[in-house]
Amino acid sequence: MDLDLTAEQTLLRDTARDLATKEILPRAAEIDRAHEFPRALVSRLGALGLLGVMVPEKWGGAGMDAVSYALALEEISRACASVGVIMSVQNSLVCAPIVTSGTDAQRARWLPGLAVGETIGCFGLSEPEAGSDAAAQRTAAVKSGAGWVLNGTKNFITNAPAADIILVAAKTDPSQGTKGISIFIVPTDTPGVKIGKPDDKLGIRGAVSAQVFLADATVGLDALLGAEGEGFKIAMRALDGGRIGIAAQAVGIARAAFEDAVRYAQERKTFGQPIAQHQAIQFKLADMSTEIEAARLLLWRAAAKKDTGARYTREAAMAKLFASEVANRAAKEAVQVFGGYGYLADFPAERHFRDAKITEIYEGTSEIQRLVIASSLLKD
Ligand code: CAA
Repeated sequence: MDLDLTAEQTLLRDTARDLATKEILPRAAEIDRAHEFPRALVSRLGALGLLGVMVPEKWGGAGMDAVSYALALEEISRACASVGVIMSVQNSLVCAPIVTSGTDAQRARWLPGLAVGETIGCFGLSEPEAGSDAAAQRTAAVKSGAGWVLNGTKNFITNAPAADIILVAAKTDPSQGTKGISIFIVPTDTPGVKIGKPDDKLGIRGAVSAQVFLADATVGLDALLGAEGEGFKIAMRALDGGRIGIAAQAVGIARAAFEDAVRYAQERKTFGQPIAQHQAIQFKLADMSTEIEAARLLLWRAAAKKDTGARYTREAAMAKLFASEVANRAAKEAVQVFGGYGYLADFPAERHFRDAKITEIYEGTSEIQRLVIASSLLKD
């Protein structure tokens, strides 16, 4: 496997790193404190091609590969995990399914705005009683006249309070199980769509999320994404890509925790020398660094496989599983390196610790990733 990056990949990574260091990092603590959706920064991402990285240029995107996407998303998440997941949802869960399953009319209508951040999207799969068991959808879509009438409730929908469109999964034929689920592109200003109050969360507080209520929300026949009954597979394929995004976010969070811990360990003195000179601290730093490198390799492997066009479900699940657990271990150890200061909001270590947790939960819990990996292994 060739681990050398192309000039294009390096350029996108450096562009993302520059934005992350100069504009995002200085705002990260404030975004977290204020639970603020960072609209101006999201526009900056859009202007630099970071919201439609893999969207073909003819639909207004950057037309780049999944490895480039992973590189850029790690850099953004290293500065701010909230901005990282906003970028991940827009690219993987909104743009990608429209690119792969949309009609040309849907692509032309939505992708140019999504790719530059003039349109914000969100992904409405989870429900109060359909989280890990994504097929247990209760939201229903019934064909009526020249449109579809949607009723149901969606839960934990990242970006919903800021969104212009929602990709809504709904049962169109309850007798057909996963083959009776379809996806609709629903503008949030459709009568009957109501966004709940933003969730009050442990971490990634700038990536505002909320419930979405659909009460006789009516959309045209042209709102159906892909074929009727194909929605579950569209959602699962989007989540394969989404898991690459969350793995990249997790590597970014782990790196933030590690780099902050290294800096602090070189400054803070105990027993007459910087704590970085104590073997207890050195062992932690060595383990954190080794695990981050390993997580990044799994991430790159999943992204590189996606770029070949082959199915990469197992590789994405492995990358997401491992990287999210590495992020949590690194963030926990970073708090320990900071000691008492690690427990204070004045230092970034506690934010990384809070932000890391969600990577083991959303876009499929660690338990679901293990199920996906095992079921793929047992099929071989
Ligand atoms: N790609 C293509 N097809 C897939 C697929 C994939 N990755 N995964 C499943 N399928 C297909 C199967 O092949 C099967 O097709 P056939 O019937 O033709 O054989 C069909 O879909 C049904 O698959 P399963 O029988 O495996 O379905 P299941 O009901 O047992 O569920 C699951 C499988 C893996 C547990 C799935 O429910 C799952 O991934 N759950 C987790 C949901 C999740 O990740 N939610 C995240 C919400 S979004 C979010 O978190 C965003 C955010 O906030 C940032």
